[in-house]
Amino acid sequence: MTKMKIAPSILTADFSNLRSELETIQSADWLHLDVMDGHFVPNITFGPKMVADLSQYTDLVLDVHLMISEPEKYIADFVKAGADYVTVHQETSVHLHRIIHMIKDLGAKAGVALNPATPVYTLEHILSDLDMVLIMSVNPGFGGQSFIPSSLDKIRWVHEKSQQLGLTDLEIQVDGGVNLKTAKAVIDAGATCLVAGSAVISAADRAKAIYLLRNAGVELV
Ligand code: DX5
Ligand code: ZN
Repeated sequence: MTKMKIAPSILTADFSNLRSELETIQSADWLHLDVMDGHFVPNITFGPKMVADLSQYTDLVLDVHLMISEPEKYIADFVKAGADYVTVHQETSVHLHRIIHMIKDLGAKAGVALNPATPVYTLEHILSDLDMVLIMSVNPGFGGQSFIPSSLDKIRWVHEKSQQLGLTDLEIQVDGGVNLKTAKAVIDAGATCLVAGSAVISAADRAKAIYLLRNAGVELV
């Protein structure tokens, strides 16, 4: 079994102290960076400069989740800032195929995120072009919301399709309400990467929270 990837989100961390916040999550695999524009989602966070600045202080894979309208206008800036993965929302991307290939041509890995109400089969004809599918298990915009159980069917669909198509490198990332209560079901459904905001950031021992999440799907014998 391959190691489960844990991607803490700094959305609920102390933005005035991000450099030291980053030190507390270095045992993770990826750093999930939630970019919000106050238009596609009802919240505003940060842009490419923050990604570039943080990249100086971590070796974690930089995983940029763009919750912004017209993402194509900013993709090059985020790749230049050091993004390893750039994920756009299906709902913001009319010409999704073009945008995915723009990300790849710039040298980053390309992901597509789906809101809870967006049918997963909208990705059927683009799945083999993708490096990652991000199943949103809350409505994007805020940390600390409750996991929406119907997301599990969507994770299963991506897992099964990727197996049928032999897409062994496709990452299946799940974002929203992932914690020690929900992680096992998410992993069992086929997730390969768990985003965890409040489950890590609110924990007294963040390294322990990362360890426990990573092993949430491992059966103890
Ligand atoms: C929500 C963001 C998430 C968020 C997750 O719009 O995309 O990455 O930080 O936070 P939790 O894990 O607290 O639901
Ligand atoms: Zn996110």
